[in-house]
Amino acid sequence: MENKIKEVVEEARRLLKDARTTQQLEELRVRFIGRKGRITALFKELGKLDKEKRPVVGKLLNEAKTTLESELEKALKERKRAESRREKIDVTLPGRKPFVGTLHPITKIAREICSIFQRLGFDIVEGPEVELDYYNFEALNIPREHPARDMQDTFYITDNVVLRTHTSPIQVRVMEQRKPPLRIIAPGKTYRRDSDLTHTPMFHQVEGLMVGEKVSFGDLKGILTIFVHQMFGEDVGLRFRPSFFPFTEPSAEVDIQCVICRGEGCRVCSHTGWLEILGSGMVDPEVFKMVGYDPDSITGFAFGMGIERIAMLKLGINDLRLFFDNDLRFLRQF
Ligand code: DAH
Repeated sequence: MENKIKEVVEEARRLLKDARTTQQLEELRVRFIGRKGRITALFKELGKLDKEKRPVVGKLLNEAKTTLESELEKALKERKRAESRREKIDVTLPGRKPFVGTLHPITKIAREICSIFQRLGFDIVEGPEVELDYYNFEALNIPREHPARDMQDTFYITDNVVLRTHTSPIQVRVMEQRKPPLRIIAPGKTYRRDSDLTHTPMFHQVEGLMVGEKVSFGDLKGILTIFVHQMFGEDVGLRFRPSFFPFTEPSAEVDIQCVICRGEGCRVCSHTGWLEILGSGMVDPEVFKMVGYDPDSITGFAFGMGIERIAMLKLGINDLRLFFDNDLRFLRQF
């Protein structure tokens, strides 16, 4: 009899463990401790036992019954709690959105710059980052002895191959392939052996070029004025300051009114009220000769700007390193 009780309890426990629904649990209750259940049936057998044995086995049976009862009760409660939790799911709530990446601020600003020029009829083109010395320097009228070629500034792959130090070689490649008139804008990575608080060995530039029969310095001023106003706002003043580049003559650098103090003078603009944002000029006749254009009938202007610098001024970022740290807290703001 004792063994039988044990077997029944063990079987009940096994089934209890496998029960998945409230209904299955209810069925177990009926099957084991219900009026016609297995335990109840054992109680009925008590009468057949010897007188002395009855109280001992009776006690065992009672214990078995209460244990099973409480275990069933516990399982039922848990099941019900789980089921009610499931019912509380509100299927009309909007789903949780997985985080999708954002564009890097440099990419965003590059696209913004390009789209302004695209609307002015410029085509977007690209060129190689590993560039021939010829395109990076020679064809841009930068002679062998020019300081820009210094080992200090340029990453040389071989004597004739460099990592481009600016996007200007794209001008030459485009002019070799196309006939004027043409208008192109060329964004990309550039490399210099420079690394400190305000310089990184890799940075980005955008190059622009417009060439035709009667392209004038007035066109240069007009196009770049439109660019500055669309990029920084209609009320931002700009000025063209004489400068020098080997591949343009005359050359000019463009300053905009300080975006922080609006020209009053502050730390960002070194108390001048102005910030330099790009280099530009009329394409030097020597460059036209290199690509086989006739400098007597063709004129043009070119310009180049650093994207990090534009991005810092436009987005109000004061530390260049933020662009390269890949800190998601920074990047997700854009
Ligand atoms: N390539 C120059 C630089 O890296 C920028 C530049 C200046 C580009 C004048 C031009 C230009 O096309 O006309 O500093």
